[in-house]
Amino acid sequence: MATNITWHHNLTHEERSKIIGQPGATLWFTGLRASGKSTIACALERKLLEQKIQTYRLDGDNVRFGLNKDLGFSEADRNENIRRISEVAKLFADSCTIALTSFISPYKKDRDSARKLHEDANLPFIEVYVNVPLEVAEQRDPKGLYKKAREGLIKNFTGIDDPYEAPETPEIVLNTHEKSVEECADAIISYLKEKKIIA
Ligand code: ADX
Repeated sequence: MATNITWHHNLTHEERSKIIGQPGATLWFTGLRASGKSTIACALERKLLEQKIQTYRLDGDNVRFGLNKDLGFSEADRNENIRRISEVAKLFADSCTIALTSFISPYKKDRDSARKLHEDANLPFIEVYVNVPLEVAEQRDPKGLYKKAREGLIKNFTGIDDPYEAPETPEIVLNTHEKSVEECADAIISYLKEKKIIA
């Protein structure tokens, strides 16, 4: 534990937002492997950047190559994975960036902690439930991971032998077996406009 540390203030978030011209937010994508979190986040990232809106995507697989390469898939490691990403996303949102996080984030309590962290700092937190039936995710199985998990070659695989706690009151639900990637990204953009997070 660090001791003898103090918080250094500079600009308030409001002052920073005024200078930069956008408030920033975290869009927290959650859902099963192969539900479409990263695909939609990628499409959205591109659309927002094309409109010159500062956006950055934090991706579950990518972050595990660097910042979180010391973590596996036990419950404790998933908790720590999400705790760190919540803090990083909060920093991005505070910098007036739209942070897009795409992590399975299977535990409700971890997502609720991420929300609280943002709400305590007055930063918008938008939970996006990327919903798909497990059977559809298993059919998609882009890297054959569900198949391996069914064969017992991967342990603690979400949806197979590890839980996924679906959000109860997410801000946005995207049923990716019924809507195209484009429609999903556009639905999020409409939401952001309605909430005046983007112009
Ligand atoms: S989380 O549960 O801690 O939020 P995260 O989104 O970072 O998971 O990582 C999930 C990715 O790790 C999957 O997309 C998949 O590529 C890979 N993976 C490897 N092993 C597992 C596992 N046991 N359960 C889920 N995903 C796994």
